[in-house]
Amino acid sequence: MNAVLKPLDFTFRPMDPEDLDDVIRIERAAYPYPWTLGNFKDSLESGYSCWLAEINGKSAGYWVMMLAAGEGHILNCCVAPDWQGRGFGRLLVEHLIETARGHGTECLYLEVRPSNTAAVFLYQRIGFETIALRKGYYPADHGAEDALIMRMLF
Ligand SMILES: CC(C)(COP(=O)(O)OP(=O)(O)OC[C@H]1O[C@@H](n2cnc3c(N)ncnc32)[C@H](O)[C@@H]1OP(=O)(O)O)[C@@H](O)C(=O)NCCC(=O)NCCS
Repeated sequence: MNAVLKPLDFTFRPMDPEDLDDVIRIERAAYPYPWTLGNFKDSLESGYSCWLAEINGKSAGYWVMMLAAGEGHILNCCVAPDWQGRGFGRLLVEHLIETARGHGTECLYLEVRPSNTAAVFLYQRIGFETIALRKGYYPADHGAEDALIMRMLF
């Protein structure tokens, strides 16, 4: 007998303070140098655009973006490890871009570790280009790691 595969229910909603337990659990599982709970609280309190992605009603990813003066700065974009590699990262970035467009944003910026192959590849595929290198931007096991600065013009 064939198993019946149910389609996944994938949705976005604005992040609430009540979501932060889930968010910090995913953050700590996904990043070697995760944001603190305070970073997320500050982002919500500062009015940054913060969205939660849910799969079948459970937290599965999120993104955080600062929007000002026609520019967007992607501060965090993350898919829970269990859901990575199935196209959800692309959906998160596409949702983020649509949100930025809806606010009249003309360009988006982000920083990413050159060693973060999945993220660099994803952003390139979606249309970001590398415009600069910020030396020693990130903490790393041995000293510091540079950041690629990437930009997408609308
Ligand atoms: C980066 C991240 C968001 C990607 O999410 P994901 O759900 O795994 O990515 P997707 O399955 O949507 O793949 C998106 C594209 O990247 C490619 N990709 C994914 N993982 C890859 C890898 N390890 N190496 C090369 N390419 C990869 C896919 O082939 C896909 O390309 P396509 O759409 O042209 O087929 C996810 O790995 C993540 O949350 N990592 C931890 C947090 C992080 O580093 N965030 C970025 C900070 S700047």
